[in-house]
Amino acid sequence: MENFVYQNPVEIIFGKGSISALSERLPKKGRILMLYGGGSIKKNGVYDQCVKALGKHDFVEFGGIEPNPLFETCMEAVKLAKGKKAKFILSVGGGSVLDAAKFIAAAAEFKGNDPWEILSKGAALESALPIGAVLTLPATGSEMNPHSVISRRSSDEKLHFSNPLVYPKFSILDPETTYSLPTRQTVNGIVDAFVHVMEQYMTYENSSPLQDRFCESIALTLVELSPKLLSNPSDYNQRANLMWAATCALNGFCSCGKIQDWGTHMIGHELTAFYGIDHAVSLAIVLPRLWLECFDSKKEKLAQFARRVFSSNEADNDKAAVEAVVRTEAFFNSIGMRTRLADYGIGASEAADRIRSRFASRGGVSLGERGDIDAERAAKIVSKS
Ligand code: NZQ
Ligand code: ZN
Repeated sequence: MENFVYQNPVEIIFGKGSISALSERLPKKGRILMLYGGGSIKKNGVYDQCVKALGKHDFVEFGGIEPNPLFETCMEAVKLAKGKKAKFILSVGGGSVLDAAKFIAAAAEFKGNDPWEILSKGAALESALPIGAVLTLPATGSEMNPHSVISRRSSDEKLHFSNPLVYPKFSILDPETTYSLPTRQTVNGIVDAFVHVMEQYMTYENSSPLQDRFCESIALTLVELSPKLLSNPSDYNQRANLMWAATCALNGFCSCGKIQDWGTHMIGHELTAFYGIDHAVSLAIVLPRLWLECFDSKKEKLAQFARRVFSSNEADNDKAAVEAVVRTEAFFNSIGMRTRLADYGIGASEAADRIRSRFASRGGVSLGERGDIDAERAAKIVSKS
């Protein structure tokens, strides 16, 4: 088991009607910048609930944060936040709006010349505006973590930063806000949460059985609830369990004491940056191929996963490990997630070339739990995807 430090300061307010708790959580003084996406909150009533809770608070709005939020759009919001002297950012929407809120909160207080360096160079932050969140899409875990992923249109890049200063002060999770999700986004959320757990679990054995079982419990919960939820999208309990599972999948707890991978995410982010595919789609395409490429490193844990999560009776470790890969991809397919680049009209060899050049241009990479996935191996994974 590895050493770790764990501290998570986010207050979670979970359940039906929980947006009513917003008013008392917001600062009484200082202007609030309310941030949202392309308008889903205006159709499903969440905007009205938030405006009601904002009541007499002094606030300004910024809408139009896009999925895979753009640096260019965020900088418009930074201009507004500074111009209006906002003291607090309220994010209302999915992971993209919240990731944008985190970047805007950091950029508004950034002392350097170019806020892009927060992402490209990991520039140090001295402060950030405080953030609160009303989450409408269970997927990223952004509501209870210090991470943010931002894309830049001008250079087709997608980069992340992490900083404890951008943990939300609170996150309100009302599962009823997710009834309006299109099936595609519900499926994306299930896959993203599943892969988050896998990035923290599917490595090599390091004597952390409690964390293994914690990860397996989230994965099994997702596998069990998905068909029930998709056949009855307004089942409150399935919605609620998905929402909490997705939060727990990336709030830092799964990884305590564990060896981690994150190679699927790093390769997936590049595919989204190049081809515009949804984040979860990129993960579903890469994960099975990365597991096969790193089979020797992962096979013990893969076999354990097949037996514990997919109830495999296979006694042979190698065969059970292959079963884990096959059953995971079959799970994705069973909920309507297609898992091949060709399904999205993308040529695998062209994508592999772009990944190789991108990683090489950054001076190479060392991805995976052993740091042994370099640009060439990443290209190989993509070429087989
Ligand atoms: O923009 P609006 O109109 O709100 O519509 C959104 C968007 O089109 C819609 N939506 C959200 N809630 C809805 C809804 N539609 C109907 N009813 C609702 N209740 O769904 C679409 C997708 O939203 P988005 O926020 O982009 O999805 P998600 O939450 O999956 O976030 C994806 C982003 O998060 C990043 C991804 O890379 C991607 O940029 N990630 C962030 C992480 C983090 N901060 O820890 C980790 C993840 O690995 C991931 O990289
Ligand atoms: Zn993810």
